Amino acid sequence: MSQTNIESMLDEKRVFEPPFARRDNAHVRSMEQYRELCSRADEDPEGFWAERAVKLLDWFRPFDSVLDADMQQADIRWFSGGRLNVAYNCIDRHLTRGRRNKAAIIWQGEPEEDVRVYTYQMLHDEVCRFAAVLRSLGVKKGDRVSLYMPMIPELAFAMLACTRIGAVHSVVFAGFSAVSLQNRIQDCEAKVLVTADAVLRAGRRIPLKNNVDEALRQCPSVEKCIVVRRAGVDIPMEAGRDLWWDELAADPELDAVCPCEEMESEDPLFILYTSGSTGRPKGVVHTTGGYLTYAAHTTQWVFDLQDDDVYWCTADAGWITGHSYIVYGPLALGGTSLMFEGVPTWPSPDRFWHIVQKFRVNIFYTAPTVVRSLMREGVEWTQKHDLSSLRVLGSVGEPINPEAWMWYHNYIGGGKLPIVDTWWQTETGGIMISALPYATPLKPGSATFPLPGIDAAVVDAEGNAVEANQGGYLVVRRPWPGMLRGVYGDPERFRQTYFERFAGMYESGDGARVDEDGYIWVMGRLDDVINVSGHRMGTAEVESALVAHPAVAEAAVVGMPHAVKGESIYAYVTLAADEDESEELRAELRTWVRKEIGPIATPEVIQFADGLPKTRSGKIMRRILRKIASGETSEFGDTSTLSDPGVITDLIDGRLELT
Ligand code: PRX
Repeated sequence: MSQTNIESMLDEKRVFEPPFARRDNAHVRSMEQYRELCSRADEDPEGFWAERAVKLLDWFRPFDSVLDADMQQADIRWFSGGRLNVAYNCIDRHLTRGRRNKAAIIWQGEPEEDVRVYTYQMLHDEVCRFAAVLRSLGVKKGDRVSLYMPMIPELAFAMLACTRIGAVHSVVFAGFSAVSLQNRIQDCEAKVLVTADAVLRAGRRIPLKNNVDEALRQCPSVEKCIVVRRAGVDIPMEAGRDLWWDELAADPELDAVCPCEEMESEDPLFILYTSGSTGRPKGVVHTTGGYLTYAAHTTQWVFDLQDDDVYWCTADAGWITGHSYIVYGPLALGGTSLMFEGVPTWPSPDRFWHIVQKFRVNIFYTAPTVVRSLMREGVEWTQKHDLSSLRVLGSVGEPINPEAWMWYHNYIGGGKLPIVDTWWQTETGGIMISALPYATPLKPGSATFPLPGIDAAVVDAEGNAVEANQGGYLVVRRPWPGMLRGVYGDPERFRQTYFERFAGMYESGDGARVDEDGYIWVMGRLDDVINVSGHRMGTAEVESALVAHPAVAEAAVVGMPHAVKGESIYAYVTLAADEDESEELRAELRTWVRKEIGPIATPEVIQFADGLPKTRSGKIMRRILRKIASGETSEFGDTSTLSDPGVITDLIDGRLELT
């Protein structure tokens, strides 16, 4: 986050009381009730979570124990002995409870006229059919299935179909490159890949299947590739491997009765890759009982989801936000979840507000980067539409700066609506720190308080809680049902990354402070992870993509403050001895990174540098590079360990030439 944003947050003193209207019907109605829930959860955490798990989900077999955990050993099990099925909880059980004809998914395609509504009954039939297709292709419980798809209903069907038969899905965001897809498929050894011909985006067709063909050249585990016809483009289909979704699902021979597999609570549910500070992306593993309990629980309390609401989370299902808050949380509760294929600014910057009015959306959950980009387009776009159906607004992905908060509150929320600023991570499975819309007095820019039962704290390097307004490490001191259970195939990395630094605690990698009223202010990552438009990108990943280019000898990547994206990528590149600096090469390197990782990893700035600031032991001093990237020309702190202090002046000169 930029220095100005941090400063404006430090000055932020405004408090907004929660609304009184509708408060009596809310799941959590007051701060007093919130405190009671916290006390109850602190006194008897297992009792608290067991009650939620039983109340929110249907279990085929009750669990024998609530929690068996040793955080130090990275061994965590929730609801052992319990058996359940996620598709059953998200679909089947609603059919007999008066929701058969209720809209489960309202899908708005990118073209305005492309709308599909799936009732729970229709969703059931689609999911059973696709589950039967997967089964007919030999997919069994525990097998991995990769999903590389646009935001179309088939993505949700495929996720739920996997859970129905006990297969483990791994969704790969469709904006990732062939190389990224390949790495992810190879890591989890997926047996089947589901994709589409192309993605519709801002009026264009962006090919998808050709990335798949490239990726699958080196994915021996993949036996079949199922393709959804979305954009109607001609694509090559490899005989014996590639199959059309519609043909498979329409096969009259298909036995579409597909019972739900009884899963153990701790059976893996899905793998989702996310960036860390070192090496390749980690395959974060979530399991069945704890994850679903937590997704349903947080959706109910944080968004105050009620039975007649239209709920819209604008994330892509390729990220954890889409998993927990488009698919699993809302559907487990029998809610109506809106899924949108397009982008906020096409065909015009009021697309979101148009959709809010069109479907009378009640709960709206988006990211600060979206708010900031729409803010720039001017308030007149918001005023063209009736937004009066809205009652709760949400934010996720990065700290929301007070200016964006106020705009969101005033122009989308009519100066009245609560904004739940939700802090969480791929690893946490669901929201951890957030206001409750009808209970918590809000301070713009603060995620406010931990949810009941979540023992989040800000600690110093020794693991002791810091005093008010002192910065520190954001940790969680007690297990919660939604927490990750592993890094796929790498138990040691799992333990080291999250549980090693602070004995018995989960380390989030974020820095935060707690103010004098107990409000938590998340300041951003402490490790080498950049948050670009709310998406995590490891500097190490971008660096290794850059040095894979023959012209590059060395590269160092840092985050730079960006007005809309929050942070953007700034790369320092030292060229190989016989290479000359040029604008063409700069453009080529940007294209190269897009191709290696995906458009979100494209460096905003590439600065050619003859040398990088290194300590005598050869370690790059990123602190200095970060300062130069953000435009500072002095105050570099202690530089006495640098092997060549002259490098700094050269880097500053190089930056000035660039800007
Ligand atoms: O730095 C925090 C930031 O996003 C990181 C998690 O990224 P990811 O795993 O991709 O999940 C994003 C969606 C949950 C965190 O470590 N972050 C997320 N939400 C917030 C946030 N930072 C501040 N405030 C938030 N509300």
